[in-house]
Amino acid sequence: MYTLEEVKNYCKLCQKCDLYKNRTNVVFGEGNVKADIMFIGEGPGYNEDIQGRPFVGVAGQLLTKMIKAINLDRKDVYITNIVKCRPPNNRNPFEKESEKCIEYLRWQVKLINPKIIVCLGAVSGRNIISPNFRVTMDRGKWFKKGTFNIIATFHPAAILRDKSKKKPAWDDFKSIKAKYNELT
Ligand code: URA
Repeated sequence: MYTLEEVKNYCKLCQKCDLYKNRTNVVFGEGNVKADIMFIGEGPGYNEDIQGRPFVGVAGQLLTKMIKAINLDRKDVYITNIVKCRPPNNRNPFEKESEKCIEYLRWQVKLINPKIIVCLGAVSGRNIISPNFRVTMDRGKWFKKGTFNIIATFHPAAILRDKSKKKPAWDDFKSIKAKYNELT
């Protein structure tokens, strides 16, 4: 068994895939290490790579607002990504990159042991819920794996690109809040 700090230190030295070659910083994740809710995005973008923190760009600001809208704060939850290094030009991570990186996420989930996991977008849903996950069909549904209650919603960047996703994403956040109230 490792501590979260140990896993982070290993991760910071990681060279298991080529994404390390272009990174400024590893973006391991941040927030409450005893969080009841964990948000999992896709991978760091430009700002995240520079700052070494997840969801700090425009999409991150929207995520922060949505978390506040359900009366929580970034400090209450834990936020991380499927891959910890920025894919070039924000492309989706390749499967072989996600497969190698997900070991770190498994440790994070095991050590933080959240009650609720929120997948942000299709890449996260495919890696966490099922390879057949389709965001338009499967968002807003609750899945149970072991003790984890898992839901996926639209990625905040997708909401920014397409305003029609705002209402369904807000419905998902209300469902997350209801589940949180039920479980805590
Ligand atoms: N998009 C993501 O999926 N993750 C981040 O950390 C930032 C943007």
